[in-house]
Formats: sequence, structure tokens, C-alpha cells
Amino acid sequence: MEKKPYDKDFLTRFSALIEKGVRILDIGCCSTAQQARFFRDYGFVVTGIDLSKNCIETAKRNFPGIDFLQMDMLEMDFADGSFDAICAFYSIIHIPDEKLNGLFNDFNRILKMNGKISITVHAGDFYGYYGENEFPVFFRTYSKRDLIDLLDKHGFKLIEMEQRQPIYDFEFQSERIYPIAEKLSNAH
Ligand SMILES: C[S@@+](CC[C@H](N)C(=O)[O-])C[C@H]1O[C@@H](n2cnc3c(N)ncnc32)[C@H](O)[C@@H]1O
Repeated sequence: MEKKPYDKDFLTRFSALIEKGVRILDIGCCSTAQQARFFRDYGFVVTGIDLSKNCIETAKRNFPGIDFLQMDMLEMDFADGSFDAICAFYSIIHIPDEKLNGLFNDFNRILKMNGKISITVHAGDFYGYYGENEFPVFFRTYSKRDLIDLLDKHGFKLIEMEQRQPIYDFEFQSERIYPIAEKLSNAH
């Protein structure tokens, strides 16, 4: 995160909206657990989930103080209102259209009222599989309008949303969208 001041500032702004010491869920934490570690160091009680068993095993080995679970975000078995905040950094880029309503309903369900959510995605209009090896990965981009509609439809009020240019030469050169929203009503 030290090499990504934009992301660090964003996570700092997001964290400042949340009471210290409460529970936060990092969805798609990967083996590096960059966001989960930021939240742990900030003083939250952090759960990190990822679909990949390998990622979770590596994260468990390397980063104490975080509860890592192998779990599909499309089948989260957390109780209603389990978390005060959710962070999904570049993970809903792997979710196809037909699964989004169910996923955002679940975000709403597992968040407490007034809970906060941050989601980051690549901007654009790509929708399909990419990868040059034998295991292509489903990947899709979003527009600001897509995210506003999804959040609005599932009981969230947008607090802020920025679209940034590619600013680091070590990252995939895409524009990116960074929304923060608050749960204001239960999803139907
Ligand atoms: C592009 S990486 C982002 C990693 C990290 N959040 C970051 O920003 O550095 C996407 C992560 O989402 C995970 N992922 C993809 N589909 C998922 C799903 N259905 N449930 C949970 N995690 C998923 C992948 O295994 C991968 O670790």
C-alpha cells in the first residue's frame, strides 16, 4: 500500500467513516491481503475471504491477526448484520451480470444499518474471458452508471465516487472507479 498512495488515501478516507474496533469484511483478499492488512493495522477486526484455497493458506501463514476464510462471495454464509463495513477491491470484476443482484442483496444483508461499503473496479466496457494460458478468467469492467444503479437498487446511498486514470506504471493500465456507499435501507 505504501507504493500506492492513491489507494492508501482512499482506504484512509473510508476507514475514517467507520468506528474503530468494529468488524470489517475484505472480499477477494488474495494472498497479499493488502487491504485486509491495512484495516488490521488501522484497528478493525478483519475477516478476509477469497475463493482461492491457495491464497487463503498463504495469507493465513503470512499475516496474523486476520481471520482468513476460503469462501465464494456468491455463497457467503455470514449471519445478517455481521459486519460494520465491507471492502471489495477488484473482486466483483469476476462476477457476471446475472449474479450481481444476488451479490448486492447479500452485501446489504450482512451489513449493519448505516454500514459502509467500498468497491473498486476497472472502468470500461469489456465483458468476457481473458488470459493467454489454458485457464482464461472471467473479467468484466463497469461504468460509474452501472455502480450507481446497483448501489441504489440495493439500499445503498453513494457517499463518494471517483474515476481515476492509470497512475502507477506497475499496474494494469486501465481507468478505475472507487465508490464508497452507506446502507440506508434493507434490500427487498
Ligand atoms: C484482482 S484480485 C484482487 C486482490 C486484492 N483485493 C487486491 O486488490 O490486491 C481478485 C481476487 O478475487 C478473488 N475472487 C474471484 N472470484 C471470487 C469469488 N467468487 N469469491 C471470492 N473471491 C473471489 C480472486 O481469487 C482474487 O484473489
